[in-house]
Amino acid sequence: MAGRIPQQFIDDLINRVDIVDVVDSRVALKKRGKEYVACCPFHNEKSPSFTVSQNKQFYHCFGCGAHGTALGFIMEYERLDFVDAVEALAADYHLEVPREDGGFNPQQQEDKTAIFDVLQKASKLFEQQLKPSQKAIDYLKGRGLSGEIAKTFELGYAPDSWDYILNQLGTTAETRTTLLKAGLLIEKTASKYYDRFRDRIMFPIRDRRGRVIGFGGRILDQGEPKYLNSPETPVFHKGQELYGLFEARQAVRDLKHIVIVEGYMDVVALAQHGIPYAVATLGTATSQDQISKLFRIVPEIIFCFDGDAAGQKAAWRALENALPVLRDGVQARFLFLPDGEDPDTLIRKEGQQQFEQRLHSATPLSDFMLDHLAEQVDLSSMDGRARLSELARPLIAKIADGVFKDLLLEQLSKRIGLSSRLLQQHMPSGNPAPPQSQQQTRPQPRHKIQRTHTRLAVALLLQHPEIAQQAALPEALHSADIPGLPLLFKLHQTIVQTENISPSVLLERWRGSPDENALTQLMQWDIPKSDEQNRLKQFKDSIEGLQKQHIDQRTETLLNKENITEQEKEELRECLRQKANQSP
Ligand code: UTP
Ligand code: MN
Repeated sequence: MAGRIPQQFIDDLINRVDIVDVVDSRVALKKRGKEYVACCPFHNEKSPSFTVSQNKQFYHCFGCGAHGTALGFIMEYERLDFVDAVEALAADYHLEVPREDGGFNPQQQEDKTAIFDVLQKASKLFEQQLKPSQKAIDYLKGRGLSGEIAKTFELGYAPDSWDYILNQLGTTAETRTTLLKAGLLIEKTASKYYDRFRDRIMFPIRDRRGRVIGFGGRILDQGEPKYLNSPETPVFHKGQELYGLFEARQAVRDLKHIVIVEGYMDVVALAQHGIPYAVATLGTATSQDQISKLFRIVPEIIFCFDGDAAGQKAAWRALENALPVLRDGVQARFLFLPDGEDPDTLIRKEGQQQFEQRLHSATPLSDFMLDHLAEQVDLSSMDGRARLSELARPLIAKIADGVFKDLLLEQLSKRIGLSSRLLQQHMPSGNPAPPQSQQQTRPQPRHKIQRTHTRLAVALLLQHPEIAQQAALPEALHSADIPGLPLLFKLHQTIVQTENISPSVLLERWRGSPDENALTQLMQWDIPKSDEQNRLKQFKDSIEGLQKQHIDQRTETLLNKENITEQEKEELRECLRQKANQSP
């Protein structure tokens, strides 16, 4: 871990940014009344339901329920983790992110920057080496690629040399270490290095921000391995990245779907022939992480596989990984290619239109799943149909509850001739939302918030922190057993202890805590009649309400107690006295 970013810096940054600028520089906003609106960047829509409140420094989409702070927006929109988002936001404002000393390894962030730097330089060098190498050019031409597409994907050539990169970029011991960490060099013996990539066509792999994070290198003639890839490095994790995703997002402004193919060449060939929305995994099965990442960009994924047995097997694994991240509004389909073809060979044979025709008629996930399972049983027999239901059950159970799951059950019930209601009774239900990266999954559209004293008090404090300076919390409530009270106290204390704290800073302080969700919900609440004159009174009323609730509870408890102590008797008298004094 790099040294921690000081809390003060994060607070200052959040206070300094205006969410309207942050969003507007990424998604053009229009002013509408007090708020700003746009078509939601997180789901497809024709009329704008994405709103940004300058007052609250908070965004919220009425369509898909996405919501959050300026920092949250960057995390979601640019798909960055917290630290990267802070860096990106700070960069918008030309601020350097400081680090606290004594972090576990403050070196690491620097390391990453240096690694990115050499990868970028190497990529440029490989690109330059392409032109003078006739055999590399011939190879690409032979595979039907244009100079233009080679440029788009920044294809390059690693010369037939053991020390090209070493000599170009590894002039000091320090840079050689960085090149080693970047996966560009291999260490032969102590401090003796040689180039990993030699005499290969180079495919730079870029992350979502367009930074080169690794390479795939294809041999020009026969030989092993056909593709050599960068090893795992601090900046390159195969199971998380997708080749061509950056390029696809560059090429198509408003991506509607993405095709997942198996090879680098397939991505490039498809783009060359008018299908610039394909991505490839890096020689691994499509992971759940990759699928959920894609569903955050597009509502539809089409998996494209060879028609052979290996393709079927890979497709089934993809299906299993897709199930837990399916939710309403997204869909996955499967396209199986004719034997012996891959997207590269096929598109060159039949062209864009026919290939897109295939994409249009790709098999929906539900059909693929049920067909595949049905092949394993005899549907003409009662036993076979029961078996199908048994096979499908654990798979369907992986899907989050919703319309899609219901439809799948419906289809299953048709196949086995059992009512879907009966089926449902046998189905383990209540499946929660996708398990991995919980915070990143899109929140459901908000429900109406039920007004309770605690919620009202917390919401008022959060949205108008200055109230805390004007109203204290009664000591007696400390011991009250009322849900949400600890949060109320913590919130109040944080505000009192921090000068001029703003709602968005408060939200950021609670990021990742169990109360984060409650707070973001309460942030979105338009509290009725909470104008400036009324706010403080509402807050005080809710505190009074809490006190009454507490006294009622104590009275009840004490009255029901068998062996009541003297002290408790005193407390009970006090409670009863207060109840008598209470306004009705
Ligand atoms: P394929 O062997 O299917 O090759 O590998 P391809 O994509 O059709 O390649 P061309 O058309 O012969 O150039 C599919 C993917 O598997 C990974 C690569 O990511 C490749 O794009 N792979 C394959 C490797 O990593 N290493 C290999 O040796 C082979
Ligand atoms: Mn191929």
